[in-house]
Amino acid sequence: MKTLKVELVDRSYPIYIGNGNLDKLAEMVKLFFTTKNFVLISDKNVFPLYGQIVINSFAKAGLRVEKITVSAGEKSKSLSCFDEVLTKMLKLNASRDWMVLALGGGVIGDLAGFSAASFMRGVPFIQIPTSLLAQVDSSVGGKTGINHPLAKNVIGSFYQPKMVWIDMAVLKTLEPVEIISGLAEILKYGIINDRDFFHFCEENIGKMLALDDEVCVEAIYRCCKIKAKIVAQDEREAGLRAILNFGHTFGHAIETVFNYQKIKHGEAVLWGMLAEAHMAVELGLLNQKEFERIRQLFHKIPMQSFISDINFDSLMLAMKRDKKAQDNKLRFALPKSIGETIIVVIERENLIRNAFNFALANGWRG
Ligand SMILES: NC(=O)c1ccc[n+]([C@@H]2O[C@H](COP(=O)([O-])OP(=O)(O)OC[C@H]3O[C@@H](n4cnc5c(N)ncnc54)[C@H](O)[C@@H]3O)[C@@H](O)[C@H]2O)c1
Ligand SMILES: [Zn+2]
Repeated sequence: MKTLKVELVDRSYPIYIGNGNLDKLAEMVKLFFTTKNFVLISDKNVFPLYGQIVINSFAKAGLRVEKITVSAGEKSKSLSCFDEVLTKMLKLNASRDWMVLALGGGVIGDLAGFSAASFMRGVPFIQIPTSLLAQVDSSVGGKTGINHPLAKNVIGSFYQPKMVWIDMAVLKTLEPVEIISGLAEILKYGIINDRDFFHFCEENIGKMLALDDEVCVEAIYRCCKIKAKIVAQDEREAGLRAILNFGHTFGHAIETVFNYQKIKHGEAVLWGMLAEAHMAVELGLLNQKEFERIRQLFHKIPMQSFISDINFDSLMLAMKRDKKAQDNKLRFALPKSIGETIIVVIERENLIRNAFNFALANGWRG
């Protein structure tokens, strides 16, 4: 098992990454905490697959676990689901000395994390991410929250977990499109911050797609390490953390235009990274040779969702409404080279239009 630490002074926490370690969490918890009561929050896809493994191992360790399951999918990141979770916790007579276990993808991590942050002004929680996207991205860094009917991720808090427990073996039951979605964020880390890791991705993309054990553990470890480093320097996104948004200005707008249906987050980010990398070339930031490396790697991904029916004006409108836009100016995290990123404010709409057209003409084909 690999271990690393998110360094945040009194809120520091370990991340464990292994293969087949799901039933070992209880032993580790017993070693570190005196907590006796836990509430496991999961969704209706993940709980039947892995919930009982966690519950049984906790029971074996003499620890009590109650469960709360919600529907799978983004719609559970809602005020009504948040209400439902808190109500169930109250009915269980949970108190401040309980701990929340978030077992699921990013939806569960965000919902359970925000529930833990809010319940009795905060109870500790552990992230047990089960989707690739959650293992390399959302479970690390302490952003928790839910959606409002008017906007995504606008109700929430920065609330760090006490531990992140990753078992790559659970990825084997994920839908292929979810692997692609997580892979997008993996490639993003290489492009924005780690040239050497980008090279690792070039060498191992096939094995990542096939969920090779060793390659996946290494990739997850290196992504968590990069994210941990960025978060340690800029927990609340005052500056540096914004480089994680590469591909996301376009990506979020694509998701918005599709109403969060028809395309997975990571897929939208892949399209977004292609467009934004092209923008970086147009701006003279990124050279053509590096861009070609990125493009060739992207083309090895069997994309399943396409954006040809998106109209540029609606995309532009969505970008301007995004919370990354300030004073109507759009901000982009753009690569200067593979491994180095800067934040750029773009006012020339034409540049954005060209990037979109480029992605349409040169991106993946159905
Ligand atoms: N907090 C953050 O920093 C952060 C960062 C990125 C994304 N997010 C959020 O994460 C969410 C997306 O996360 P996601 O892509 O994991 O979505 P998700 O949680 O909806 O999981 C995707 C699907 O896979 C299923 N699933 C999860 N693990 C499984 C497994 N091991 N086997 C079989 N099925 C499994 C889920 O039930 C769901 O149907 C979004 O709401 C996004 O806003 C948060
Ligand atoms: Zn993302």
